[in-house]
Amino acid sequence: MADNTPSFERVAIIGLGLIGGSLASAIRKHKLAGSVVGFDQRADELELGVELGVIDQAAPSLKAAVEGSDLVVLAVPVRATRTVLEQIKPWLGRDTVLSDVGSTKTSFASDVEAVFGEMPPNVIPGHPIAGSEKSGIRAANPDLFAHHKVILTPADNADSLSLARLKALWEGAGATVLTMSVAYHDEVLAATSHLPHLIAFSLVDTLAGEDENLDIFRYAAGGFRDFTRIAASDPLMWHDIFLSNRDAVLRVIDHFTHDLGELRGAIADGDGATLLRVFSRAKAAREHFTKMLSGQAYVTNNSDQQVIFHMQPGGSVRGDIRVPGDKSISHRSIMLGALAEGVTEVKGFLEGEDSLATLQAFRDMGVTIEGPENGLVRIHGVGLHGLQAPRGPLYLGNSGTGMRLFAGLLAAQPFDSELSGDTSLSKRPMGRVADPLRTMGAVIETAEGGRPPLKIKGGQSLTGIHYDMPVASAQVKSCLLLAGLYANGSTSVTEPAPTRDHTERMLQGFGYDVQRDGATAKVTGGGKLEAGVIDVPADISSAAFFLVAASIAPDSDLTLRHVGMNPTRVGVINILRQMGANIEILEERVIGGEPVADLRVRSAELHGIEIPEDQVPLAIDEFPVLFIAATCAKGRTVLRGAEELRVKESDRIQVMADGLAALGVETTVTPDGIIIEGGQTIGSGTVESHEDHRISMSFAVASLRATGPITINDCSNVTTSFPDFVELAKQTGFNIRTEGAS
Ligand code: S3P
Repeated sequence: MADNTPSFERVAIIGLGLIGGSLASAIRKHKLAGSVVGFDQRADELELGVELGVIDQAAPSLKAAVEGSDLVVLAVPVRATRTVLEQIKPWLGRDTVLSDVGSTKTSFASDVEAVFGEMPPNVIPGHPIAGSEKSGIRAANPDLFAHHKVILTPADNADSLSLARLKALWEGAGATVLTMSVAYHDEVLAATSHLPHLIAFSLVDTLAGEDENLDIFRYAAGGFRDFTRIAASDPLMWHDIFLSNRDAVLRVIDHFTHDLGELRGAIADGDGATLLRVFSRAKAAREHFTKMLSGQAYVTNNSDQQVIFHMQPGGSVRGDIRVPGDKSISHRSIMLGALAEGVTEVKGFLEGEDSLATLQAFRDMGVTIEGPENGLVRIHGVGLHGLQAPRGPLYLGNSGTGMRLFAGLLAAQPFDSELSGDTSLSKRPMGRVADPLRTMGAVIETAEGGRPPLKIKGGQSLTGIHYDMPVASAQVKSCLLLAGLYANGSTSVTEPAPTRDHTERMLQGFGYDVQRDGATAKVTGGGKLEAGVIDVPADISSAAFFLVAASIAPDSDLTLRHVGMNPTRVGVINILRQMGANIEILEERVIGGEPVADLRVRSAELHGIEIPEDQVPLAIDEFPVLFIAATCAKGRTVLRGAEELRVKESDRIQVMADGLAALGVETTVTPDGIIIEGGQTIGSGTVESHEDHRISMSFAVASLRATGPITINDCSNVTTSFPDFVELAKQTGFNIRTEGAS
């Protein structure tokens, strides 16, 4: 708890195995309770508990342990629960909180009901998702739960104070606490823990063979060792778990057996296409999952995984490159491809974390997606009404676009859904989409202040509205148009200034009628999307770093190929040209409904300007790097009307001003913009990017004109939009070294 008051006075831990012992020692280490009393029917373990300092006190009986404790935690084998509950029932205080650490929750809840005749409000079942193949109190580890998840499964009548105290206790032990229903817990665990253990036990047993010929293990390599590590777990405990979670485990075994049977069939029939499809889908899912778990791309506040850019000053920027695919178009290609009828082929897809999160979310809703493989993706569309309920929250990483567009789409589905994101996304405003969606009839719950996560209630029938957007936001417009595909009647959106129109263009490309009349776009529900081919142009927002780089670095000459030149995105070129940049637009063409060109940019003497306000929405993502251009220009640059920058992946006005200040550049921050006196020297220093990809890359560009080395912290999020930034930067002449990147 924030005030450091222990959550409990006296905690009784019944059962001093690995988990019970580790919880006891975590409570002691972090002073989460006044004292910890242990009980175990194995007297030697109990004695050891005191000797090893795991518990404060060994209780001679269950009565002595439980009486006077305000928290009792059962850490006994799952199958012993009922007996222990019967024994402790008479000694439990009225307000004593009772919890457990068992791996199956339905069985615990039914044992409690059998013994107490109901689920008392102070009983909060729990399950730490942590463990080891080691067992016994000697393996107790106070850090076992740090950076692990603990699931609590309170019943509807649970006492909220008891829940809050228990949650604070686990958080004090370093865990992240999630709550869910008992039934959902058991389904999830059957799939993610119980089945893998069963397979590991079974595989090792099969290979060991009935004649106990263990010779085969001599030849077993690392894959076998990794895969079967969990077969060394405690047999008795697992026997308990399978018998206790029988129904959920049987369901997932049947599912797995069916899928395994299909793979067997594919091998027997020489059906390589099926094998490839399944394996590539699994590989992609596994990679996504690894990143989510390790926090590589999404959780940058974990110091172990920091990526740091070390920039040496100077250099020229030269060459001929193609930056990765447009992020906005990549998101939309997956979304509309998934909702279309037929197979959509996407070329040039951005394999960045943001668009990959969107891709994974559709896989989680049952859409088969092949790839990405060198930017190629094949989406087997399920039609507007073919999505399936995801099994858990959809995690959208760092992506505001993902979350806002999904909100519109999911508001109209027959199933409930939840959208979550990383720390940066969790701070961003979602009321701007939730409010108008609600007026269409959507039921959406947000966290405090309209922030994520979003909980969306399925099965609502939506009605079309007209919406005058208070802010110029393509995300809000797109969200409402997507919801409008499902709404009764027409949905129209008027924007206060032009914003990117990729949704409108792509809907039309998929054969859906979008009526555009000046600042208003309108769709009518009830149509359908037809699969197509999408060629994603290179992202002008990524090209922007190189446009500025080659403009400010002396002796530069760089060609950028196949850059998206949608008129709603070219603000950065208009602004740079007004500042005197030398950018040639070559080979203009239209590909798949989007204008594209090659850009040749050479060093130029830039001068400061008053940035025209009508260019702000057209360059909304490019301002961080434009601030670097302004710093290198002669004279003053003034930006106004850009308050939206404050609610991007970071507060881009303040964070850029702070970074520039760290390099000795003074700026004047205003509520809706910034004033930069050009021609100041960019010195050496350390800059914080605040988990914002575009801040990291902008300061990398600044190094080209710096007088000393620049260190940029917190750069792992560059992979959200520009996975090969470092490679292309090196190739064109930046002097960049990364630390901590995998
Ligand atoms: C985007 C719209 C813009 C932009 C974002 C991508 C999109 O956001 O900043 O990077 O793909 O629709 P807003 O709609 O909030 O301006």
